[in-house]
Amino acid sequence: MNEISLNKKICRLCDAPSLQSFLDLGRMPIANAFLTSEQLKDTEFTFNLEVGFCEKCFIVQLIDMVEPNKLFHENYAYFSSISSVMDNHFADLANEINTEIFYDPTLSVIEIGSNDGILLSKLTGYALNTIGIEPSANVASAARKQGLNVISRFFDSSLAVELSEKYNAAQLVVGTNVLCHIPDLNELAKSLNIVLDDEGVFIFEDPYLLEIMHKLAYDQIYDEHYYYFSVTALQVLFARHGLRLFKVEPISVHGGSMRIYGCKLSSKRSTDESVVRQLAIEDEQGISNLSSYLVFADKVQQSRSSLVELLHKLKDEGKSLVGYAASSKGTVILNYCGINTDILDYVYDNTPSKQGLYTPGTHIPIVSTDNFSSDKPDYAFILAWNHMEEIVAKEEEFRNQGGKFVTHIPEARVV
Ligand code: SAM
Ligand code: TMP
Repeated sequence: MNEISLNKKICRLCDAPSLQSFLDLGRMPIANAFLTSEQLKDTEFTFNLEVGFCEKCFIVQLIDMVEPNKLFHENYAYFSSISSVMDNHFADLANEINTEIFYDPTLSVIEIGSNDGILLSKLTGYALNTIGIEPSANVASAARKQGLNVISRFFDSSLAVELSEKYNAAQLVVGTNVLCHIPDLNELAKSLNIVLDDEGVFIFEDPYLLEIMHKLAYDQIYDEHYYYFSVTALQVLFARHGLRLFKVEPISVHGGSMRIYGCKLSSKRSTDESVVRQLAIEDEQGISNLSSYLVFADKVQQSRSSLVELLHKLKDEGKSLVGYAASSKGTVILNYCGINTDILDYVYDNTPSKQGLYTPGTHIPIVSTDNFSSDKPDYAFILAWNHMEEIVAKEEEFRNQGGKFVTHIPEARVV
């Protein structure tokens, strides 16, 4: 079985019958399941992309999930190192960790979801014993080629026990854009307790729920993201397992994320005022009220209407339209808004493994960004708005020759 359906009322994390569905984006293919030309005739796997809010523990979660091993495998499409912005971001994070978190060179450092080694390679420069945990074999292998120590498995409590037997306790467990990928966060918290030193720290960075709601970034909602985090919900989750958030930091990457720092309840680390401040902001924004999510869902539907209207208007004017970036978010936008080859001729992308394939569900051909400006499309709809700055800067020639970009965040417009 690849699709796990919840009893729609039961929260996956706290088991309370308090889960309220608030947004249904319809049947959806796997966001990163790009297709070969031979696969176009096959029936694609789809699942119902529906999101709920737990009124008891405040976590926002997918109601139906696709099993992790169908998403994270030897053909995982996302190589973290494609973005130079992210590379700089991780260099800054490694530097901060080195100065503020490391305290004992004999203790280990574990990165969950180390992908192609973008952060692990930098941590290795500062720490002695670094271990990457990465279930997707292809990206894990890219990291190993750089000489990094990577275990190609899902992080869970049995692996945590093995790690604690083989290595010294962890002074740091870090995971960027991976916490939201882990279906059983109670198991994750249990695993943290096993590997962490008593004064050890965990750091996670994930897309931030309030940013998703403010920007109407419904395209952050897809199969790989089982959860959408507020500090409020994370605090409840970790407290249940004897863990404490001691600092939080909003960061700009991936369209607005939150970096959280945590430790064991008994740790000597004091709790920073940033935690109290962020909890107050969330309270003020109604993060614990179902009504906030219902308002968001209404606005998402309006956002779809105005995007579809804009793209049809340009098409009716006889303009040529393409997509830019065959992203996972793009799969959600294209399928939810019903945008296919009637509107977009191609989707341009700089990932070699995606070129020559077709977008999931909507079957638009993916081609190399090398030919983007010389093909001279009139409009390019950015399907990875989180990378917009980098893309616009890179494609100066396209703009110089009169090409225009379209975005749908925070509203549909030509930029
Ligand atoms: N950390 C990188 C970054 O921020 O660019 C990669 C993020 S990528 C979106 C998520 C990664 O987490 C994937 O490489 C995936 O294979 C890995 N992953 C998913 N579930 C995991 C789990 N339970 N344990 C460890 N890694 C996992
Ligand atoms: P993601 O949002 O699923 O990570 O995908 C982002 C996609 O954007 C990825 O396939 C690569 C593509 N991309 C470009 O084509 N050009 C760029 O400059 C950047 C930053 C990303």
